[in-house]
Amino acid sequence: MKTFTTSALGVVLLASNVAAFPAAALDALSASFAKEGANTKRATSVVAPQGTGYLPLVPPPFDAAAQYVSNKGQYAFVAPGPGDARGMCPGLNAMANQFVSWRSITMRLTILIQCSNYLPHNGVATISQFISATNKVFGMAFDLGGFLAFFGAIVDGDGAGWSIDGGPHVGIGGSHNDYDSDSSPFMSDLNQYGSNKELVISQFKTFYDMQPDAATANYNLDVLTAFSGKRYTESINKNPYFFYGPFPGILVSQAAFTFKYRFMANKSAEYPEGILNKDVLKSFSSVSGPDNNLTWTPGHERIPDNWYKRNDADQYSIPYFFADVVRIGQTQPERLVIGCNHGAVNTFNAIDPATISNGAYTAGQVAASPLCFATEFALAELIGTTGLSAAQLAPLTSSLQNVTKSMNCQSIGSVNMSALTACPGFSFYGGPTGPIAPGAIQS
Ligand code: HEM
Repeated sequence: MKTFTTSALGVVLLASNVAAFPAAALDALSASFAKEGANTKRATSVVAPQGTGYLPLVPPPFDAAAQYVSNKGQYAFVAPGPGDARGMCPGLNAMANQFVSWRSITMRLTILIQCSNYLPHNGVATISQFISATNKVFGMAFDLGGFLAFFGAIVDGDGAGWSIDGGPHVGIGGSHNDYDSDSSPFMSDLNQYGSNKELVISQFKTFYDMQPDAATANYNLDVLTAFSGKRYTESINKNPYFFYGPFPGILVSQAAFTFKYRFMANKSAEYPEGILNKDVLKSFSSVSGPDNNLTWTPGHERIPDNWYKRNDADQYSIPYFFADVVRIGQTQPERLVIGCNHGAVNTFNAIDPATISNGAYTAGQVAASPLCFATEFALAELIGTTGLSAAQLAPLTSSLQNVTKSMNCQSIGSVNMSALTACPGFSFYGGPTGPIAPGAIQS
């Protein structure tokens, strides 16, 4: 069961190119769930809980005992203290908030608890701790968790681990434009607010209000995709330094939206794909209070009571995520267009992919194969921009190469980063604080 998403979808990836991928992935998921005797009673329903046209076609299995995620006992919520790092990722913050503070117990007990807990309470962890926690708590497949954890360590950390906050080369707080991107769902654009980790209540409220009835609210991928279009436009309208690059824009930024439904939605026998309602959204976002007085408390993200993660047969993998990105591009095509504001609001121009890829990809090729372009660009950019050796980058580049090879991607020999000097918001590292751009509009 556990190997389903990586094995079945891995075969799909190996056997298909990007254009053929979504249909093949749908077939593979559908066939696998049917074969495993999954509940198929809603297979023909018009709108699935996850949204229109998003995987899976057939509901995954649900197993309450295996999918329950405890927030009791040793996993009880403990707020971060003064020395504990918390950053822009609500999933990582929530996992770090379950660890009993070492200050209150003996060192011997700390070691025992650390072995069996989600993430260290101080917010600094190793590659293997990130991979294992994201899998255990959220059902993130090992290919996706591995890639994210290695990227954090190699590009933004010390090679072995990283902080969930930190600055450049310490943690993802310092990853502006290599990992962290503008136009995130709830988190602030770095040069609009001077921080990349402030939850902007107006952004949260816009999304929150997109499902007005608390009894039926479900923030699924249809809602998230529509909201992602609003956020892209809002950044153009309000952030003079808005920058939307190939890897952080086309790929990471979509994850910031899809992860909300894919990981936070509460699974049940009735809705095995999950429902993301108002209470669960608020708990994972560290937002509390009534609808007319919503309040954000920095770093207090909580795993909700009675919350169930993804089934192991349905872990969210790289191919699964890629299928979501293709679907987002069908309804919000601008989310796959790279570009920047030129120092004032509403001065957005698309960046010509042919210029920055030294002719390897035209705009037409990017529109047809956005995943190939973003992944190949990341590969070429990492080698040219991080200052790290090929040997240091090897764990990351080999995993990216596996993906691009399986999709028959056109490679990019070298990138032309000088073309990005037209974008005042571009730097490969930056944050968690930075200058506020003159003319920035905050709301
Ligand atoms: C090792 C694993 C992970 C890494 C390296 C990581 C890193 C990041 C980064 C860099 C961002 C900022 C993206 C942006 O600016 O657009 C982010 C945002 C986000 N992450 Fe994670 N993340 C990880 C795991 C998770 C998990 C398990 C969840 C589960 C819920 C999650 C949910 C989110 C969400 C919802 C956002 C968007 C926040 C917002 O603006 O509203 N992440 N993450």
